[in-house]
Amino acid sequence: MANQKLGFSVEKNIVTCTLGDKVKQIEIIHKGLIRIYEKKNPEELVKLNLHKRKVSFTAQMESGKVVIRFGDYEIFVNQKLFVEIKKNGMEYFEEYSGDAKIYGQEKDFSLSMLEGHKQEDELVSFHSQINLRLFDKEDKIYGLGDKAAQLNKRDYEYISWNTDDPTQHNESYKSLYKSINYLMVNHHNDRYYGIFYPSSYKCVFNLGRYSDEFLYIGSEKGEYDYFVLLGGTPKELSGIYAELVGHTLFTSMKMLGYHQSRWSYNESEVLDIQKTFEKKKLPLDYIHLDIDYMERYKVYTVDSANFKDLEKMTDSFEKKGVGIITIIDPAVKVEEGYPVYDTLKKNHGFATLDGKDYVNRVWPGDSKYPNYFDRKTAEYITELTGDFIRQYGVKGIWCDMNEPASFNGPLPDEVEFPTKKAMHYHDEVHNLYGEYMTRAIAKAFEKENMRPTVITRAAFATTSPFTTTWNGDNQSLWAHLSASLPQVMTMNLSNFMVNGVDIGGFGNECTKELLIRWLEANIFSLFLRNHSAMNTRHQEPYAFDEETESIYREYLKLRYEMIPYLYDLLRQGSQKGTPVLRPLFFQYPDDPEVKDMNDEMMVGDSLLFAPILHQGQHSRVVYFPKGTWIDYFTGKEYRGGRDVLVRMELSQTGLFVKKGAILPQFKGLLHIEKKKIDTLYLYVTGNNATYLHYEDDGESLDYQKGVYNEYEIRKTKEELTIRCRHDGFNTTYKNLVVLIDGKEIKVPFQKDMKVSLK
Ligand code: GLC
Repeated sequence: MANQKLGFSVEKNIVTCTLGDKVKQIEIIHKGLIRIYEKKNPEELVKLNLHKRKVSFTAQMESGKVVIRFGDYEIFVNQKLFVEIKKNGMEYFEEYSGDAKIYGQEKDFSLSMLEGHKQEDELVSFHSQINLRLFDKEDKIYGLGDKAAQLNKRDYEYISWNTDDPTQHNESYKSLYKSINYLMVNHHNDRYYGIFYPSSYKCVFNLGRYSDEFLYIGSEKGEYDYFVLLGGTPKELSGIYAELVGHTLFTSMKMLGYHQSRWSYNESEVLDIQKTFEKKKLPLDYIHLDIDYMERYKVYTVDSANFKDLEKMTDSFEKKGVGIITIIDPAVKVEEGYPVYDTLKKNHGFATLDGKDYVNRVWPGDSKYPNYFDRKTAEYITELTGDFIRQYGVKGIWCDMNEPASFNGPLPDEVEFPTKKAMHYHDEVHNLYGEYMTRAIAKAFEKENMRPTVITRAAFATTSPFTTTWNGDNQSLWAHLSASLPQVMTMNLSNFMVNGVDIGGFGNECTKELLIRWLEANIFSLFLRNHSAMNTRHQEPYAFDEETESIYREYLKLRYEMIPYLYDLLRQGSQKGTPVLRPLFFQYPDDPEVKDMNDEMMVGDSLLFAPILHQGQHSRVVYFPKGTWIDYFTGKEYRGGRDVLVRMELSQTGLFVKKGAILPQFKGLLHIEKKKIDTLYLYVTGNNATYLHYEDDGESLDYQKGVYNEYEIRKTKEELTIRCRHDGFNTTYKNLVVLIDGKEIKVPFQKDMKVSLK
């Protein structure tokens, strides 16, 4: 070691540092993104968008270190090949060069196991381990997708390994359904950087569990290879991250409506739900059919004894504005004569072990797993899905059990998933299985010029361009209601914006109060579905009493009012990566009060949301960030920069509009049918405000060809102006209603117009 000398060379945008036979490379992809690696992870299945942009940088040797300089950044590679980054001369990011000792299981747990305690596997031996320095105790670590945990994950350990676990999730659960290897780290008040680990193999994120000095990412088979996202604000980082992993799906507007589900409604219940919602004037866009609509759980079949005429039902529902979404699991029942099975078998479309089709067990009994990684098999699934949605008039597909789940023990690491290019094994593709299933299914919608109406449980970081998501089997517990806020905010931060948890909780028993508070608290989750397990208490909006039903109705009304605002935010999110539902630190990154705020969120720039999350509570402290905030329901004004105790009865939640905001709204809708929406409402506050409103047909892919409108809206004390800065869509708006200080100003809508507010 002593006589080994640090050296470097530069080729295009890659600086290669060498020390004896050790190599560390730094690739400058653009001014906000660098990749640090000893060896790159394979790129065939994990598809990243590495849009290289020219950055002029210098690299030289200074005081025994390689120093790379560009923009505000200086990257140092020291004599031990550790990387350090300074931003404007200040500490920003560092690989940890101390002794990163990892502790294995030290104790004998056999006694506690006798009582039924579980011994958790610990991952302690790695093919690669990336140690990053934690500078001080106040550094926060956000990210990692769907974990049932608070925003700041500092001090915990999580494992990326998609897992179907229906027991009661909490912050100590290391693995849930999704593996989103992205961290956003806040060091000191205002310095943020991002870390993305691109390997699909099982890996551990130990976020300071063993030491205050470092976090580590250890991978069983993944390489020493990661991205550092450089940014001034969380917003900049989200933009860089979304570009890297692929922008979130711009789903249909209807998808943002209300979904009703349960495991499993039968035909007469489904008919009854549609009628009851209609009669009770409860908004509804979709009803979900869980596994019992299938014939003995065989995917792409319909049980004609249970659903006698699904086509007739979907047809009549369509006229009433309601779509049917059916669940599809990946695994295929082993049954000769069942066409899906026969075709896949004949075409070698199943995963294999030692060259023979691999069998495990899921709902239908013995089942095989389609190899979605193989192009031909994926194309067959696309075709099958297309035929199924056309034949039955089904409007969306809910992809479940795609971790993949297996009742007969885990799939061995060696299960084979060959592609044309290479042989892939289960340990590499496990975390990608859900993604490749949804890719194949989403294509069926695209072929019909429809935006995919697809929901998935399992996902990897790169999955959000193809599908929306929900967070799996939560329970009707107050703790799970509290967890839902940081969960959806973190999913948004992780570039999964159309996301939600089961409203009312899936497992266990819901109560009236819990259901009401749950709907209130999740009313802005872009995927809004009430779903519950079999053998639990029913939790449809009218399952309790009239008070519950009427509060539920009011909140669904609020949701539908806000749909154009949410849709505008989703459009921006899908272009720029900015989350729709934002932790307060995201919006106010230099406000030290909000770094750990799990129970409030921002909905876009203009809405501050602070719901009740605890049983029996009728008031709560709301922290108002800087600015002036107006209670959406009472009009009361609050000055920012302080905590205020706000009363919230069972029917009330904390919703505050920023003074100086414009909110587009629709009124009186029971379903989202864009063609029929003829009035745009603009709720305005304050003297000066600007806003960008987006309009298209809400469902097709035509917007990709420019078939949309973009309106720039400005408000002053005297007037409101609309200027159509992109004019490509035949608007459905006929009227404009400005809602100002409790008054309504109604005028005919024009793409370019002025309205006097005097
Ligand atoms: C899984 C899903 C759940 C579904 C059930 C039956 O538990 O997460 O949503 O209802 O399977 O299909």
